[in-house]
Amino acid sequence: MNKGRKLPLLFQEFPKLKGHIPWMPLTRVTPVQKLEKLGKKLGLKELWVKRDDTTTDIYGGNKPRKLEFVLAEALQQKKTKVITYGGTGSNHCLATLLFAKKYGLETILVLWDQPLTAHVQRQLLLFQSLGAQLIHMNDFDYNKLSDQDKIYNVGPGGTSPLGILGYVEAALELKRQVDEGLMPEPELIFVAAGSLGTQAGLELGVRICGLGSKVVGVRVTAKDFANPGLVTTYARESYELIKDYLGGVPEPDFRDVTVLDDYAGTEYGAVTQEGVAAIELMKKYEGIQLETTYTGKTLAGLMDYTKKHDFKDTPILFWNTYNSVDLSKYMKPGITYKDLPEVFHKNFKEDLLHKK
Ligand SMILES: Cc1ncc(COP(=O)(O)O)c(C=O)c1O
Repeated sequence: MNKGRKLPLLFQEFPKLKGHIPWMPLTRVTPVQKLEKLGKKLGLKELWVKRDDTTTDIYGGNKPRKLEFVLAEALQQKKTKVITYGGTGSNHCLATLLFAKKYGLETILVLWDQPLTAHVQRQLLLFQSLGAQLIHMNDFDYNKLSDQDKIYNVGPGGTSPLGILGYVEAALELKRQVDEGLMPEPELIFVAAGSLGTQAGLELGVRICGLGSKVVGVRVTAKDFANPGLVTTYARESYELIKDYLGGVPEPDFRDVTVLDDYAGTEYGAVTQEGVAAIELMKKYEGIQLETTYTGKTLAGLMDYTKKHDFKDTPILFWNTYNSVDLSKYMKPGITYKDLPEVFHKNFKEDLLHKK
């Protein structure tokens, strides 16, 4: 994994950051790829995808990019455990658990309920298989945890000023790919807006590296948690962390930040018809698997937005933040829901995993 990536582009471009910002190598440069067939179907001549589903061989998707910075800080601070938070189907929780385990850290996951799907059941069984300590949000009291000084706190979604740098780095990576002629400079970049770290990082990154792209977030959670004001706040906080080491880079202007509102469905994790239709199209035309909580909704947003305006020849990038590594190898043979703490058993009244 990660052959040849000894230094992030952020440290290469801004050498003064090194020594001030913790970082460890987890990810590889992910390809950009033209979506010829899907683009043809949608009437978009320059539709592209950034294959962040392939960020690592352990677990793909957007989370490892944030963890490169966040877990590096946990290790630097000599912590022995990480705690993090998410829905019962959280990809972030699974990614954190996998990489924490690889580096010898124990993981505590504090989980809240989300709409029940086969994905939720699978994630819960994976959390248990990989040895996480699972606590339901309703039962959670930080003060009851032992060894608190050994615990590193990872924010929900891995979104923190430090974690967001993972997507600042990703923007620099894209800039390099554009400069190398691997794809035209995208006019629009569509990305899921959940805990907002991905969008905030891209917003800051494109401004720092001079890409002319406009980032379009597609909201997948409640508006109180995902809106342009919050994206801007997070991007600014991250900028504060690095601004003294950027040399002559002008202060970024965040006035033009967009989050589309119409594709989230009734709540976080709710399955939407447009999302399912978008997933089917991507699978049928490009063989790329998306999912219903984030990336299906994001593609649905892209499809609808581009229908309403004339983007026939416009370079458009869909940022795939979903994992494509097969996770079945992490499932403990013979594990059942009965191995989980009882508070999670209610998620298994119906066996969705084996339902046809
Ligand atoms: C597949 C997928 N895409 C997108 C996101 C959203 O990213 P962010 O939380 O940075 O907005 C997540 C994580 O929560 C995710 O698991």
